[in-house]
Amino acid sequence: MISRETIEEILMRTDIQSLVSSYVTLKRAGSNLRGLCPFHSEKSPSFTVYPADNSFYCFGCGVGGDQISFTMKIEHLDYPDAVEFLARRAGITIVETGNNSYKNEPKLDKSRFYQMNVDAARFFNAYLFGNDPAAKSALAYFTEKRGLSVATIKHFGLGFAPDSFDTFTRYMLGKGYTRDELVTGYLCRRNEERGHVYDAFRNRVMFPVIDVSGNVIAFGGRVMDDSKPKYLNSSDTPVFKKSRNLFALNFARQTCAESIVLCEGYMDVIALHSVGITNAVATLGTAITSEQARLLSRYTKKVIISYDADEAGRKAAQRALALLEEVGLEVSVISVPGAKDPDEYIKTYGVEKFKEVIGAAKSKFDYRLDSILGKYDINLPQDKINALGEVEKLISTVYSVAERDVYIHTVAEKFGIAFQSIRADVDRIQARNRAAAKRDEGKRVHEAAVGYFDKVNPDYIKAPAVAKNEETVLGLMLVHPDLRHTVYRDGLLTDDDFFTDLGKRIFEYLRVATESGNDHLIDISEVFSAEEVGRITKMKFSRMEVTNSPEVLMESIASLKKAIAANASGQTKTMDELAEIIRRRQEEQK
Ligand code: CTP
Ligand code: MN
Repeated sequence: MISRETIEEILMRTDIQSLVSSYVTLKRAGSNLRGLCPFHSEKSPSFTVYPADNSFYCFGCGVGGDQISFTMKIEHLDYPDAVEFLARRAGITIVETGNNSYKNEPKLDKSRFYQMNVDAARFFNAYLFGNDPAAKSALAYFTEKRGLSVATIKHFGLGFAPDSFDTFTRYMLGKGYTRDELVTGYLCRRNEERGHVYDAFRNRVMFPVIDVSGNVIAFGGRVMDDSKPKYLNSSDTPVFKKSRNLFALNFARQTCAESIVLCEGYMDVIALHSVGITNAVATLGTAITSEQARLLSRYTKKVIISYDADEAGRKAAQRALALLEEVGLEVSVISVPGAKDPDEYIKTYGVEKFKEVIGAAKSKFDYRLDSILGKYDINLPQDKINALGEVEKLISTVYSVAERDVYIHTVAEKFGIAFQSIRADVDRIQARNRAAAKRDEGKRVHEAAVGYFDKVNPDYIKAPAVAKNEETVLGLMLVHPDLRHTVYRDGLLTDDDFFTDLGKRIFEYLRVATESGNDHLIDISEVFSAEEVGRITKMKFSRMEVTNSPEVLMESIASLKKAIAANASGQTKTMDELAEIIRRRQEEQK
């Protein structure tokens, strides 16, 4: 854990103007600076930097925060890595500590684990190129059996773990690592009965996993024959979480802004990179997680899923598709005909053919269409009817008329059925859906009311008067640390004075920060999501242009209390009133 003092020093030494200027051209606008937002595309600048407050906010897309949030977003880093990044930039050496930190976590020196993994990777790599006959056959496995060049082996830092009880362990002990460290880092195992510590990876070719900052964080080890288990992977360690990392993202990050190819296997990724498709990554021996989906969404716009051709691969692709779409990524799925996986496909048919497959990557619609067709034999009448029913249902979910017509054409041809009949079926399904939707209208208005138009603060719409007052009070408290000291010291407000969940959470956060002397709110980007930090910054900015004083604070507190009392006395709103509120709120947000 990095101490609060260190983070405060990093913030102090990182001038927001010069930080942002290395990514965005800024022009002076009064006491502030303006530029084109690097986080959304715009023609006139609404991205504003407030040097006096060391913060930024984009009036176009609502992104905002401090130096740390800016770095997280622009460099695709999580909170600790962004802090590290800024520390390096400011020339500050990070001292990790257990005490004095703003949170109580056990003391742990991550850099030692990183160093330990680098030493391990070097050992495995050197061993692979060494004189042990077993190493010679491991090298032959890579070069002859798997067709990798020595350059590729070196690029990925591949290695070999000898078939020995403790050769590796003894080497690492000699380097000064303790048995505990080696076991915690998953490089060694401990025999619980006898207490021996021995090599975790034995007689396996080794794949180091490297994070986006270039640290070696884990290993996968593969057998060279058909024995089981085929792979042994590091479990989670203090510097590694399987569900949060992706193999080869350290390389792919350079070329993946447009799209990323997501594979299942290490070998697939290595094969793709070695033929120049360097935007390929893989999960680490597990199905893709929502954390990995979010990670991908920070790096790219589009994911091309390229899993194994077997049934398991197809099922996994379906799940991945859903998960990736959830985080707003454009997704397509490819399948490699006549090969078990992308690696084999490239070896058999060459990279140009693979690129053609990517080029013809199926859209979500085509992919779903194919999965329906795959279930049926449309030469059989009953199958044909069932398949058509499912396909029509699928088409009826497509919003655009033109797009629907294109699909209907394709299907009409495939099924040998007249365009007009399918069209009529689809129209009927849509009419039925519309009727059902109308029945649900009340429900939908309500759902919309409870959050559809304000994803960051979904409670806003339920009591706009209260929420507006909350924002004023919190804005004041955010701008002026002394005002928030007053609020908590004199108990001017309690949790119950807040209605929205976001408001309550900010109020609670500020309380903890105030009580622990965290005046700079250094961990705000860790506690709140990027969107929430943006909203918080907006609350702050709307107070920075106007007069603030203890009197204004008292007035706005009174006004918040009045609003919350009025809300509690329960004038619940009719559907029409809610619809009207939504309309006004949409206008406001334009
Ligand atoms: N995997 C694993 N443990 C296993 C099998 C597989 O962790 N027992 C993970 C590995 O990360 C592997 C991925 O799942 O890379 C895909 O598995 P598979 O297709 O079996 O392996 P490949 O890496 O494609 O290896 P190969 O081409 O040599 O079969
Ligand atoms: Mn495979």
